[in-house]
Parts: sequence; structure tokens; C-alpha cells
Amino acid sequence: MKIIGTGSALPKLVVTNDMLTKYFDTSDEWIRTRTGIETRRIMTDESLKDLAVAAAQRALEAAGVTAKDIDYLVCSNVNNNYVYPSLSSIVQGAIGASCPCIDIRNACAGFVYALDMAHMYLHTGRASRILVLAAEEPTRFCHWEHRETSVLFGDGAGAAVVEIGDGFLGSKMTTISNTDVLYQRQRLEPTPFEDLSSEAYTNHTMVMQGREVFRMAVTGCSNEISHLLTEHGFSTSDVKYFILHQANMRIINGIQQYLKADPEQFPTTVQKYGNTSSASVAILLDETVRANKVQRGDLLVFSGFGAGFTTGSCILRY
Ligand code: UT7
Repeated sequence: MKIIGTGSALPKLVVTNDMLTKYFDTSDEWIRTRTGIETRRIMTDESLKDLAVAAAQRALEAAGVTAKDIDYLVCSNVNNNYVYPSLSSIVQGAIGASCPCIDIRNACAGFVYALDMAHMYLHTGRASRILVLAAEEPTRFCHWEHRETSVLFGDGAGAAVVEIGDGFLGSKMTTISNTDVLYQRQRLEPTPFEDLSSEAYTNHTMVMQGREVFRMAVTGCSNEISHLLTEHGFSTSDVKYFILHQANMRIINGIQQYLKADPEQFPTTVQKYGNTSSASVAILLDETVRANKVQRGDLLVFSGFGAGFTTGSCILRY
């Protein structure tokens, strides 16, 4: 597999930390020092389909191919307006592709898992060019009176077009079943989102044990990345960039310190977009590529973590 084009799209509404102080007891100072987040983008009149389609079209354009040239579409997504059909099916029609589609629901680690799956499809000859998409709207599933979770998230979409090549060097995926630390129950009845005190609302929004997620994220991603580097005979300094899930600046710093890497090797978007779930790795990749920071041949490590508890990392030459 090699990456031949990337794209991303974000909602237009910028929500500052100060704006959130109207909804619950928090402060810009607390959010900045505990998470690094300064602003996030929240969907208003956009739909997730709009963002996903825009990210996909930008990636296709950057790759210099059309939707008709894509022979598989993999989309990482946890929630959207539909239980079914898959978001990938919806995007496929909107961009004018005609290939088979599949969604994967693997929370924040989803884009890294989707890249790994795409590599296997290419490797086995099942496809020759794949659109790998991640589109997420976590702000619609936070409880907007729970300051522990709702300050963290933002919405967005990112995409990469990949085709047969020799860039993908290896991956390491791990799931340690722990369903209590981070979950959201399925909504089986219409939920009155405007009524924040209703039991239905509370029962179907995100539940998180932040400290435990923090600990599992730093440990899981650090171990996977170390394993991959050792397995492939690389040292930390061989890597141009570590493209990590953007959840919390302190988590990114924790992984950087464990690896004894240079902070410059860790580009970030968490300050401006918050945690966009699985889209964060795809958006960060796109911004890093578009800023001309990545050259062909550079070694990149991707790593994500999320509900499951699931982590996934891969190493590739751009
Ligand atoms: O994609 C995966 C998604 N999840 C994550 O990545 C989350 C990982 N965890 C984290 O990022 C951090 O654990 C948090 C940012 C969620 C919390 O940071 P923390 O340093 O672990 O804080 P804490 O949960 O230990 O809370 C410290 C204090 C508590 O008050 P007391 O009990 O010490 O009086 C909280 O009630 O901070 C309070 N607090 C807040 N205060 C102001 C929690 N949230 C807020 C808030 N504003 N938004």
C-alpha cells in the first residue's frame, strides 16, 4: 500500500473554551492545561455526509484520480444519522463511485484499523485503489452537562486514497476487552436531545473513566509503537512523524516521553479541533501533507486508541 492523496473537512463553527463556560462549570485555563484544547469545530447546518463527501473529494483530487477509479471504500464511523445503510454507501453515491463499501465501527482507533484493512485488500489482490475515510460527529453524542467529556470533542472528516505500492511496512493491533472505561449505549427509542435532564438522554450519551482511558492510551500506544520499531529494525529517530490520535496533548506528550522522541516529531491538531474520534489521525495526516512537511520516502508511524479498549499502530514509508 502507498498513500497517493489525502483530504479533510471540518465544520465551520469554531467553539472556544470560554463559550463552553456558559453550559457548565469549567474554564479556559482548566481545559488548556489538562488537555491542550483551545477550540473545537462543531457541526451546525452541515451533516456528517457533507463533511465526509468533502474530505473524500479533496483526497481524490489530491491523488489525481476520480471516484470511478476507486475499487473499494472503507469508512471508519461510530455514529451518524442512520443505523443503516453504512455511511460509506451514502458517500459512495454522493461522490459517484461504484465500488463495494464497508463501514468499520472501531471508535477512535478506526482510521488506523481501516488503513490496515485496506493494506490487506491490496496485498491479496482484492482491490487496487481504495478510498479510506473516517468521519465522526462525537459532539452529538456527548452529554452537554457533563464537563468531563463534552469539552474534549469536535466533529470532522478525513480521507486517504491508497493504492498498490510498497509503503506499508507493518502493523500491530491490540484489543483488551474493557467495556466499562468508555462506552455509549445504542439509542432504542427517540431521544429528546433538547431535554438534558431526561433519563433517555443520559442513558445514551458517552460514559468515560477519563483517568483509566488516559493510562491505557499511553501504555497501549507506547508498547505497540516500540514493538513495531524493534520488529522492523528502526529507532525512534528514523521516524519523521508520529501521527497519533488527537485526544489530549498530555497523552501525546506521555507517548513522546516514553519513546524518548523529539516533540517536533509529533504534529498536532488537538489544540484547534479537539478530539474528532477516528477522524483525527486522517485530518492530521492531511494537514501535515498539505503543509509540505512530509516528503516521499519519509517514515511515518500512525497510532490510535479508543473504546474497546482498542489500540492500533502501523508504520509506513510515505
Ligand atoms: O478518544 C478517547 C477519548 N477519551 C480520552 O482520550 C480521555 C482520556 N482522559 C483524559 O484526557 C483526562 O483524564 C481528562 C481530560 C478527561 C481529565 O483530566 P484529569 O487530569 O484526568 O482530571 P480528573 O478526571 O482527575 O479530574 C480532576 C478534577 C476533578 O475535580 P476534583 O474531583 O479534583 O475536585 C474534576 O471534577 O477536574 C474536574 N474536572 C473539570 N474541571 C473543570 C473535570 N472536568 C472538568 C472540566 N472543567 N471540564
